Amino acid sequence: MQSQREKLAKPFAQVWTEADYRASAPAKLIVCGEHAVVYGQPAIAVALSDIRARSALSCGPRGSGPQIIAHDLQTVWNRETAADNPLLQLVERTLEQLEVAERDLEISFSSEIPIASGMGSGAAIATALVRVLAAYAGRELRAGEISAMVYASEQRFHGTPSGIDNTVVAYEQPIWYQRPPAQPDGTRPAPSIESLQISAPFSILIGDTGIRSATHRPVGAVRERWQKQPERYNRLFDQIGAISAQIRSCLASGDHKALGALLDANQKLLGQIGVSLPKLNQLVRAARNAGALGAKLSGAGWGGVMFALVTPESRDAVRQALLDAGAARVLETLVGVPS
Ligand code: PMV
Repeated sequence: MQSQREKLAKPFAQVWTEADYRASAPAKLIVCGEHAVVYGQPAIAVALSDIRARSALSCGPRGSGPQIIAHDLQTVWNRETAADNPLLQLVERTLEQLEVAERDLEISFSSEIPIASGMGSGAAIATALVRVLAAYAGRELRAGEISAMVYASEQRFHGTPSGIDNTVVAYEQPIWYQRPPAQPDGTRPAPSIESLQISAPFSILIGDTGIRSATHRPVGAVRERWQKQPERYNRLFDQIGAISAQIRSCLASGDHKALGALLDANQKLLGQIGVSLPKLNQLVRAARNAGALGAKLSGAGWGGVMFALVTPESRDAVRQALLDAGAARVLETLVGVPS
């Protein structure tokens, strides 16, 4: 049996190959409607199937209990060292729910998704963990069941998550997501989730500001402002909701030019609710000046990523412009290709 230190020293690719069970989950990108979605407006999100978190499971030493080996962080979490770690708690709850008796397990994970940057890295890691445990238990979990388990874990990070992250990551397809706001007693009615038609796939470049931002900070700040000026903020959220409805039509008709203009309009409103940043604005402006059809931040803001809608003709110039404007990295992906 290898020690944890030996396990950590191995490249994750090798742990993955040697593992008894493997699972993964995609990154997500909110196309439009972030923040407004917390207040009951619709939002659109897509799964980015080529950018993933992966989890690998093997049996562990007798009596060890479940151990999570976080390769990217070079850390091990177990009952002794990190009993209140949210991912370890998710693993314990999932084992309970799956009625797994043999719990001496080593569960490694690694992720290609930039952390705390609006691409759903937390939800993807949690989903990959639940999926690998289900594989070990020999159980087929439905996307809705996985999503609910991950949501409970996300609540510990964000407080009042809309649920869009865990949903799009677990369903792994473009979604239209709407959920009535939380009730005064703190409960939230069930969301309405529709799978979305994208008639013509579109290319985007994702520009990472390199600034990490924990979701709960901008979400909390928006809540405070909304409490102080409910009418103003409700109006802004309504406008964002109306844009999401128009974007849905554009995705169905394949009108990329109109889509670009709507992304720009959504970005302007996100600026008005106070979640953009000079660095995000710089990247958005650089992309548009280099010929992108539209650009906006994605996710909670105050850092993280933006994306630009590009054509084959503008792609290279926009990538260069993003790098020149200080993007820490630029990822490229095609959205809307059936998986
Ligand atoms: O930054 P992310 O990927 O965690 O996205 C947050 C999206 C918000 O609408 C701002 C919050 C939410 O819970 O929907």
